[in-house]
Formats: sequence, C-alpha cells, structure tokens
Amino acid sequence: MTLAIMGAMPEEIAPILEKLGEYKTTKYAGNTYYEANYKGIQLVIAYSKIGKVFSTLTATTMCEHFGATKLLFSGVAGAISPKLKVGDLIVATKLAQHDLDITAFGHPFGYVPEGSIYVEADKELLALSKEVALEMGKSVQEGIIATGDQFVADEERKNWIGEIFHADALEMEGASVAVVCDALHVPFFILRAISDAADMDASFSFDEFLETSAVESAEFVMKMVDKIVR
Ligand code: ADE
Repeated sequence: MTLAIMGAMPEEIAPILEKLGEYKTTKYAGNTYYEANYKGIQLVIAYSKIGKVFSTLTATTMCEHFGATKLLFSGVAGAISPKLKVGDLIVATKLAQHDLDITAFGHPFGYVPEGSIYVEADKELLALSKEVALEMGKSVQEGIIATGDQFVADEERKNWIGEIFHADALEMEGASVAVVCDALHVPFFILRAISDAADMDASFSFDEFLETSAVESAEFVMKMVDKIVR
C-alpha cells in the first residue's frame, strides 16, 4: 500500500518529515516528493504550494504517478464556527469550493454541471479518526470545510461562506484535493488545525500560529498513519 500525506506549505509537512528521519527525494512536475518506508508501508509526502490549482496537481501526481491508494491531508485553516479556536482540530466530513460561481446561469454557488456542491470524505477514515481522537484524549470537531483561492481576512466574506455552505472552517486546498481523490476513487481525509478566525486579524494570527497549529495537525495525522498500518 502507498499512503500519501499532503500539505500545502513546507511548515505543514516538516513535522512529518522530522518523524521519518530517512526518505528518498524525487522532483516531479515542479514539486518535491519524499518517499519513505514506514512500518512496512510506502509513504509519499509533499507540499503542493498554496491554492486549488497547485493542490490539484499534487494530489493527482500522488495518485497517478506515485500510486497512492489513500490520501491524508494535514494543514491549517481559518475558523468560521465560533466553537473553533486557534489550535483546535477539524476533520472535514465534506468539502465545497466557495469561489466557484456560475450563479449567472441559475446554478447554486459551488456547483457546475456534472459536478456536485459537496464532496464527501471517506467514512472509514472518519471512523478511524474518532478512534485516534479518543486514544489521544483530543476533542476533534467534524464539520464542513469550504475551499477557495482566497485568504479570507474579512468577517463579512467569512459569514457569507458560513451561511451559503454551512461551513465550519475555510482554507485553500481541501475541496480540490477532494475532487481529485473522489474522481480517482482514492479514499481521502482532510484534517486542519485552526490558525486564525478569518477576520481582520487573520494574517497576523496565521503568521503567529501557522507552525504550532501545523504541528498539532501533523501529530494527529501520524497517529492516523499508525492506525492504518496496524
Ligand atoms: N488557511 C488558514 N487560514 C486561512 C484563511 N483565513 N483563509 C484561507 N485559508 C486559510
């Protein structure tokens, strides 16, 4: 089995690479992929760069070129739900693209013909994450994540995304990774630790908490890997 672990930024995969110690480095299609044997399975790890296009390329490469048969995403997000505070973990039950808009043709936000507004995450991986949360004694919220090519630092935009998509958190890669994995029938899991509240202070909060929140997310994802291996 080849398991993909993906982030968007170097900070999001650094804690995972640190845990592995030894890995092989391959450059492919403008990104660096790290391959390692971990407890008897193959891991392929990469950060995509920020946004839907780069994350689509990386997720596709991990599945089609490196042969990943499951994909776990680890990273940070902005909170929409007031229940989510900096450092809290959110697991996506389903994801939508908040910036996909052909409403001019009478379609709902986030929808294009032959697509769907939401892509659902793998149920088995969600169940596994509940076991991991219990074992770690961590409270992990499940919810809807909205994705778009926009760093949201605006209360009004954040509230609009929350209302239209019933989203609990927002980020810039999850839904595009979900579309790729769904199309290729690769079970996927998107985990995010909150770095900011997507409000006027978001960029400062993001800079301050990116690294610590990324570590929170990466530690949980590695526990997921340990569970999958067993
Ligand atoms: N990732 C983390 N915080 C974010 C925000 N406020 N907007 C978009 N993506 C994010």
